[in-house]
Amino acid sequence: MSSYGAGEEYWEGVRAAYPKQQPLMNLNNAAVSPPPLVVEQAMIDAYRLISQNPDVNMWSKLDAALPSIKEELASLIDCSPDEIALNRNSTEGLCTAIFGIPLTAGDQVLLSIWDYPSVRAAWLQRQEREGIDVVSVQFDLMDSDDDILVAYAKAITPRTRVMQLTQMFHWTGRVLPAKQLCHLARAQGIITVVDGAQIFAQLPVSFRDLDCDFFVTSLHKWLGAAVGNGMLIVKQSRIDSTWPLLAPFDPPPLRIDKFDHWNLGTYNSAIQAGIAPAIQFHKEIGTRKIHARLQELTRYWVDLARRIPGFRLHTPLDTDNLGGVALFSIDGVDSKTIEQELRGTHRVHVKYRQVRYLHGLRVSPHIYMLKGDLDIFVAALEQVVNRHR
Ligand SMILES: Cc1ncc(COP(=O)(O)O)c(C=O)c1O
Repeated sequence: MSSYGAGEEYWEGVRAAYPKQQPLMNLNNAAVSPPPLVVEQAMIDAYRLISQNPDVNMWSKLDAALPSIKEELASLIDCSPDEIALNRNSTEGLCTAIFGIPLTAGDQVLLSIWDYPSVRAAWLQRQEREGIDVVSVQFDLMDSDDDILVAYAKAITPRTRVMQLTQMFHWTGRVLPAKQLCHLARAQGIITVVDGAQIFAQLPVSFRDLDCDFFVTSLHKWLGAAVGNGMLIVKQSRIDSTWPLLAPFDPPPLRIDKFDHWNLGTYNSAIQAGIAPAIQFHKEIGTRKIHARLQELTRYWVDLARRIPGFRLHTPLDTDNLGGVALFSIDGVDSKTIEQELRGTHRVHVKYRQVRYLHGLRVSPHIYMLKGDLDIFVAALEQVVNRHR
């Protein structure tokens, strides 16, 4: 995939719209991305406005924008605004779905060993408390899509009620064939919960096309809204039967509102003030162009790093679903040592990740990064590796 013809000069302009990343080169955007400057400013302005007359300015003025924010998000992900709840992050959205779906002892839930740790922990808590049966589907993150589909299909039994899916795994950036898996589940009346924390705003996603029951994401990752913003999408037909995590203060105006953040009690409305500018910024570039650029950056650094003896990539490269997240290791050199030396000596921040038998360093550039940054990163990596050979 090309970067839609945009050269480095175009991306230099994009970089100028972001806060300077210092003192470290930030190659861990999969954890949380910096907001563009317009988003940061919108939040600061809103915070100052709140200080002038807190409750009126929060709940009468700033919150008046929430319906239009939902409309904008709905147009970005192709769902109805009446299916969107705003919250603090993916963890909250996922736990709303996980604890809100009515299940009884013996009902089975399929997940995988690669799902986000707090997602697994939440389902295992329900298993302990209520006697549901949590089953881990076995596959490797480098398996083919077809093999993964077969693994899920084989795991389904007449007791399977829920399929928990991670659309892009944060460990390696691997993307699941989520649409086919949701189709498989729907055909058997199984509810699907899709963890879209990493995929939203990185790759194009359509909620309608995916046809899942719950889709969850954080807006502070690839969209670049302020830290502390999440989105939960619940299919119309699932809203009434799903319990909210916290009981609403008032009967909610819309059915979906029972999942909104205002049921938490007092919250900081300034945090949502950056969502609309973040969407605007994202749309001006466009999701397809962003995806193409992230893919281009990943291919770029991987091509450079391949010259380092022992370099091993744990992310499938030969796919259009490749984005800005990839995991690598170097045979014979401890990944944690590389992480520490890259950071301590070269001021480059990549993230050590370890799960089950898989471990390595996750690299996740965002669109404010340039190929020149990646040249610096790989040169530093080569020096670190050479010191340990
Ligand atoms: C796949 C996945 N799910 C869930 C989460 C949790 O996101 P948050 O910390 O924003 O709640 C993350 C965060 O990295 C993630 O990568």
